[in-house]
Amino acid sequence: MQRLSQSPTDPGFVQNPYPFYDRLRESGDLAWWDDYAMPCAASHRAVHSILRDRRFGRELPAELAPDIPDHLAPFYAVEAHSMLELEPPRHTRLRGLVLRAFTSRRIKALAPEIATLTHEKIDSFPAEAPFDILATFCQPIPVIIIARLLGVPDDMAPQLLRWSNAMVAMYQASRTRATEDAAAAAASDFSDFLRRYIATRRKDPRDDLITHLIAAEEEGEKLSPDELITTCILLLNAGHEATVHTLGNGIKTLLETGTRQIDDQTVEEILRYDPPLHMFTRTAYEDVTLFDHTFRRGDQVALLLAAANRDPAQWPDAHRFDASRPVTPNTSFGGGLHFCVGAPLARLEMQIALPVLRERCPALRIAEPPHYANIYHFHGLERLMVQTS
Ligand code: HEM
Repeated sequence: MQRLSQSPTDPGFVQNPYPFYDRLRESGDLAWWDDYAMPCAASHRAVHSILRDRRFGRELPAELAPDIPDHLAPFYAVEAHSMLELEPPRHTRLRGLVLRAFTSRRIKALAPEIATLTHEKIDSFPAEAPFDILATFCQPIPVIIIARLLGVPDDMAPQLLRWSNAMVAMYQASRTRATEDAAAAAASDFSDFLRRYIATRRKDPRDDLITHLIAAEEEGEKLSPDELITTCILLLNAGHEATVHTLGNGIKTLLETGTRQIDDQTVEEILRYDPPLHMFTRTAYEDVTLFDHTFRRGDQVALLLAAANRDPAQWPDAHRFDASRPVTPNTSFGGGLHFCVGAPLARLEMQIALPVLRERCPALRIAEPPHYANIYHFHGLERLMVQTS
């Protein structure tokens, strides 16, 4: 297996990781990424197949789980109940409960609200001065919609964003002790808020996700109180972080390429071309030989979703944004057991918000060269300064 080095915090890589992904992919289905000290999959076929291979999973086998330092205990107390970090049978039970409450009928019913919110946000754009469309449009729409879906008041949105940003920062390559302390504090404050909020909502059932999850908890063995809190945190955090940056990266691409026609196919191309989540890892649960490499139980592999999306074997001229390209499933929402629960909601938000934006702001243009934030393995903009005239 070829070895390659690339710091994930190198400014050139943060702005454009795709040339390095090409080098990895050209070295084979699996290549060794020195800076992460693990093999990584950059071809579409390798990422696609390992995502679906049940001999690999996200949860670490008990004997391999690292000791958790005291200062991170509140953070991992939340993570311990997250379906994203678990495998069957707990994963199956938690995911099943969420899917039962997260029906396609309930998602589709959000369309008018998404449209109204999109118009409200556009109404408040400044007429002439440059403004940050990430903060005024891309952030509030997904945050408010996921808060409403769960049944958390709209005015909590800014606080949800702060907690979520602090917790998600734990997955950055540039993580420091300060990042860890902030994530632990956010996890503990977020849990306290939800514990109090759920207590009041028990007496006040409504037609929302929190009510459905509370009912599952009250039925006994189905959902423990800690699982209920973690599931709410996971949905609130995962329910906007990636959508915010897909919208931001997408608007940047639409403006840079002068794309005017935005339909469902354009949204799929946006997801393929510049997704917000680039890397997820899996652990081998047994000795496995794949693509000429033998993994031992406990070995890790990095799956580069964004690299798979630019594989020329799957998409001709893969580095070109082409809204007319026939849709071939990309890996931006993952695959297999952990395939994104929120994909239909994220797609709906983009399918509504982006065409309305283009229609109502035909002269929208980039006012300042955009920069991606140094938050790899997330790939999202620091801000996106635009002008409507
Ligand atoms: C464009 C926006 C989004 C992207 C690109 C995205 C991407 C992903 C990816 C790649 C995974 C799988 C991670 C892995 O396999 O290790 C995932 C899982 C998940 N996502 Fe999303 N997501 C988005 C929006 C959402 C939304 C709106 C929600 C919630 C309403 C959501 C909730 C979840 C949950 C709960 C999981 C864990 C599923 C499981 O472990 O079974 N996501 N997402």
